[in-house]
Amino acid sequence: MREEDRIILADKLRKALTGFPSLRDEYLERLCSRVIDDSRFRICPASVGKHHSWPGGLLKHTLEVVQFSLNMCKASCEALDAGKIPIDDHVVALAAVFHDYAKIYCYEERGNGWVKTDYSNKIQHVYGSAEFFSNLARDCQVPQGLIGDVVHAILAQHGRNEWGSPVTPYSREAWIVHLADMASVNICEERYLRIRG
Ligand SMILES: [Fe+2]
Ligand SMILES: [Fe+2]
Repeated sequence: MREEDRIILADKLRKALTGFPSLRDEYLERLCSRVIDDSRFRICPASVGKHHSWPGGLLKHTLEVVQFSLNMCKASCEALDAGKIPIDDHVVALAAVFHDYAKIYCYEERGNGWVKTDYSNKIQHVYGSAEFFSNLARDCQVPQGLIGDVVHAILAQHGRNEWGSPVTPYSREAWIVHLADMASVNICEERYLRIRG
């Protein structure tokens, strides 16, 4: 994937967030920009040999998770008769953007490809992404309750302990992020589309 294409994808990710009026919020924008503007995030693959495993794959996968999860949020709110039982779209948006961020420490470019690092073996991205988000959010004075809800959704992203999540989804927001992650991996992955970026 060329740098121009990555710039377009990063722009789409920003627009996917600001396209939801309730998400136009200064601190949310500031937090998400830390991910979107990070050059390591833009070039990293989402895996080695699994899904979105090409340079820029992490950015593409994150965009898909944001799109799926925010649209699922909207559909769920409509199905639940708008606002009676609100779903917190700030929690969903932040968890979707940050859920795999620590993959930038899990893979490194070597020779003609990407390989797993020690960080990937010892810490892994699920815990690493939750830790990164909570440190950053605390520095930005994000309310503790919101931090906890987002951290839970990040930790529960893989849905099951045997799939690498230390906890299973315990909120609707966490379920949405997990299902959106599954959708991106199983529907949008390039082996189904038969195209490569
Ligand atoms: Fe993940
Ligand atoms: Fe993911």
